[in-house]
Amino acid sequence: MINIIKVNNEQQFNETGAGIIASLVQTNPRVKLGLATGSTPVGVYQRLIELYKEGVVSFKLASSYNLDEYIGLPEDHPESYRRFMNEKLFNHIDMPLENTHVPSGNSSNAQQAADEYNRLLDEAGQVDLQLLGLGHNGHIGFNEPDEDLQGQTHIVTLDERTRQANARFFDSIDDVPTHAITMGIGSILKAKQILLMAKGKDKAEIVAKALKGPITTKCPASFLQTHPNVVVILDQEAGSLV
Ligand code: F6R
Repeated sequence: MINIIKVNNEQQFNETGAGIIASLVQTNPRVKLGLATGSTPVGVYQRLIELYKEGVVSFKLASSYNLDEYIGLPEDHPESYRRFMNEKLFNHIDMPLENTHVPSGNSSNAQQAADEYNRLLDEAGQVDLQLLGLGHNGHIGFNEPDEDLQGQTHIVTLDERTRQANARFFDSIDDVPTHAITMGIGSILKAKQILLMAKGKDKAEIVAKALKGPITTKCPASFLQTHPNVVVILDQEAGSLV
């Protein structure tokens, strides 16, 4: 079931997302959160930090599992997703760093790192909430459109459009890694609840395809239609076609 919430501005977007996550943490302090990087959740993380600083919520017993990581960037590289998560969220809240998990993109053996992450997810069991952004090509995590999709954590070759979209964070497109490790579609869909967030008119078309179009591997996010509990937060622009 997909429940769409349309908000009117950036502040509502972030507050609504953070509110859903914070209330889960309040009702279940041992909550397991699936987290995402990218530009979409940054304001949500800022709001969560504020709620923590205001004493509204504590992450002391919570744990987190991130969707993906570039292959070949050292952990302290400004664009590594581990560093992103530390800087945008983990360094500012009380979730113990050892409870935070991001696939290891800098291992000498990427396949082994993907397998290890898979084992970790299996041990963790079901995450309570998986936060997702949406790629312009319909990717979730780094599950790019393809003839078939993989269920578990695996290595992906990044789509040219994905590399171009992410080039804004690097000095040049040549510096954007070509490969990444990502949770598979099966792992994402295993979450008890999914929170998909998208904003901006450049996402309107893919939002409509993902939520209302045919379920197809050519739009990985369309598989969210098969999940029993999906909440989607959209601003007016991203939600203009649904
Ligand atoms: C990030 C991720 C990606 C992004 C997507 C949207 O961990 O897995 O799927 O959510 O590329 O990115 P933004 O939010 O930058 O538009």
